[in-house]
Amino acid sequence: MSVTGNGTTSASDPRGLGPADAAAGVAKSMRIRGLFKEYRPGVPVLKGIDLDLEGQGVTAIIGPSGTGKSTLLRCMNRLVEPTRGEIIFEGQDIVSLNRAGLRRLRRKVGMVFQEYNLVERLSVIENLLCGRLGYVSPFKAWLRRFPAEDIDRAFELLDAVGLGEFAQQRADNLSGGQRQRVGIARALMQAPHILLADEPTSSLDPKTSVEIMELMAKLAGERDIPVVVNIHDVALGRRFAQRVVGMSEGTIVYDGPPGGLTDAHLKEIYGGEDWLN
Ligand SMILES: Nc1ncnc2c1ncn2[C@@H]1O[C@H](COP(=O)(O)OP(=O)(O)O)[C@@H](O)[C@H]1O
Ligand SMILES: [Mg+2]
Repeated sequence: MSVTGNGTTSASDPRGLGPADAAAGVAKSMRIRGLFKEYRPGVPVLKGIDLDLEGQGVTAIIGPSGTGKSTLLRCMNRLVEPTRGEIIFEGQDIVSLNRAGLRRLRRKVGMVFQEYNLVERLSVIENLLCGRLGYVSPFKAWLRRFPAEDIDRAFELLDAVGLGEFAQQRADNLSGGQRQRVGIARALMQAPHILLADEPTSSLDPKTSVEIMELMAKLAGERDIPVVVNIHDVALGRRFAQRVVGMSEGTIVYDGPPGGLTDAHLKEIYGGEDWLN
């Protein structure tokens, strides 16, 4: 029995989806239609996004700073309220969810952050056991009592991200790359049906960035879930993604394999051309 109620089941478990949903082929899929977001009335940041995410593999969302990548990702777990449009996750429109629905949604949508969002004073293993979406239950952290199966799962995930030896270390003792590995393991604790990562490498040096993207790609390959990574580093995105979505000023201007991305596309996405040489 899971006391915490968060993901202790295997990745193949439909986790509460009705059989009808699974039969309809909507499990682990997200369908976005006509998505607009305005932080200020009349100033859209997202201007009619259509995007389908399903199946396995990494989708890299590229585009210049300020183009709406984070806003798009944050709409997908309702950290940001969409202004209009549809986001259908596993057959259900998440734009209209109530609080309980939102909690269920966020259990299924794993999130990895640029700044890791770890609880610095807690150990690595406690970060996995307590954290979700960067929020922690102080009561549980204080109690430090967790179901054995959650603890087993946390250790398995730490091994999977190469941090098996670091379980008892405090988060604030770790390097940036190690912290991000904890962030990834924490997101996987809940056995998410989709994994979103917002610039997971932009606080890291180039070598560590490659290692983190390698890890994301490997984990994506092992789990049958879509992995979406916002990344402004085009080369890194192209190298590790099966699909690239290029954004410019709140719209999608390219959606296809990395190999199909031409200089003309990059010019449209990033503007200018001097930087291409
Ligand atoms: N909470 C917010 N309130 C107001 N404006 C915001 C907020 N978050 C982002 N923006 C604006 O929305 C636009 C897109 O931002 P963002 O989604 O962060 O882009 P990206 O992730 O591609 O850099 C920017 O102009 C940014 O200033
Ligand atoms: Mg961003």
